[in-house]
Amino acid sequence: MNPTLRLAAAISLASLLPLSAQAAEAKGSVEVVHWWTSGGEKAAVDVLKAQVEKDGFTWKDGAVAGGGGATAMTVLKSRAVAGNPPGVAQIKGPDIQDWAATGLLDGDVLKDVAKEEKWDALLDKKVADTVKYDGDYVAVPVNIHRTNWLWINPEVFKKAGIDKAPATLDEFYAAADKLKAAGFIPLAHGGQPWQDSTVFESVVLSVMGAEGYKKAMVDLDNAALTGPDMVKALTELKKVATYTDPDGKGQDWNLEAAKVINGKAGMQIMGDWAKSEWTLAKKTAGKDYQCVPFPGTENAFLYNIDSLVVFKQNNAGTSAGQQDIARKVLGQDFQKVFSSNKGSIPVRNDMLADMGKYGFDACAQASARDFLADAKNGGLQPSMAHNMATTLAVQGAFFDVVTNYINDPKADPADAAKKLAAAIKAAQ
Ligand code: GAL
Repeated sequence: MNPTLRLAAAISLASLLPLSAQAAEAKGSVEVVHWWTSGGEKAAVDVLKAQVEKDGFTWKDGAVAGGGGATAMTVLKSRAVAGNPPGVAQIKGPDIQDWAATGLLDGDVLKDVAKEEKWDALLDKKVADTVKYDGDYVAVPVNIHRTNWLWINPEVFKKAGIDKAPATLDEFYAAADKLKAAGFIPLAHGGQPWQDSTVFESVVLSVMGAEGYKKAMVDLDNAALTGPDMVKALTELKKVATYTDPDGKGQDWNLEAAKVINGKAGMQIMGDWAKSEWTLAKKTAGKDYQCVPFPGTENAFLYNIDSLVVFKQNNAGTSAGQQDIARKVLGQDFQKVFSSNKGSIPVRNDMLADMGKYGFDACAQASARDFLADAKNGGLQPSMAHNMATTLAVQGAFFDVVTNYINDPKADPADAAKKLAAAIKAAQ
């Protein structure tokens, strides 16, 4: 085809295509910044994208790679400073209040949707308060993750002669020793700061219990941060770290999850987004893999609630798109399919109370059961490593001290505890 014909063909094709595209543009376009970029997580977020596009809106994908979201947060801050925030962004926990205080979040756009869809009745008060500012919803909660999980490949366990999932730290070390002796990586782990701290918070919970965890990681109580229990937790952390993947430095969590899925490693300590990779690999919970609370944490639940905030945009089409996203996110359909793909559990109370009815698997059913039980017994605590417990500045202090401690062969646990308390004080 000569150049003129090619151009003419392109123009005539373009005049056919835009009908739907133009309709979408006419309805509005929303950019969504998030860090759901692993294979399994992308599959989960693509469900929302498809639903919103079906309603005639344009979804501009603002995915920023990097587990735990630190890179996405940096991008978001520079966009906000430049006066160009996206319409919607994944922001969580106390950080939402800080963003709202800047005046950049929209407290009006979700008002009607929240009223029509009765969000106050659908959501636990703890969840609703996290996403409200001055009494108005500035974000829609998406799902609930638990961070204190241990993921196990039972086939690998069998080959290493281990007959049950470890329920105590001592059983964990014994299993890890057997895995090592049988030539497996005992613990798949990517040595990025947020992953180090995800392991750290599970170990703290195991050693200090939910009450001790709260004092140290949420209340930031000096005595709890430097006391003998924290020193013990740091000592155990160092021992856990001796079993981690020697090739794991700086590795992404999903690539480490793949090592457990592929039978190279026996275990991974990771939040239940890890399940998204097992699901993508078409593995079945309870059969191809086991999910158990991290040893010693069966009566506690470190929660991590994903949410999508809305930024002021001054564009009617974008506002309509933001409302559409919010409506979809809290709908039963989306709650079911997203959490099934993502490994989380729904935020809706009605669904949490009846998980079997919605077809959730064994891991998700156990998670919902524990979430509801632990909410009553004090075992439900916010995850430090996933921005639910502290400001990002304090979280940064935890990350620095914990990662340096893990990587310093000469580090002393009592000294690290003191450093932790000092760094947190400075960050407050
Ligand atoms: C968490 C987030 C999860 C998951 C994970 C790994 O902070 O809440 O949804 O994306 O990071 O990136």
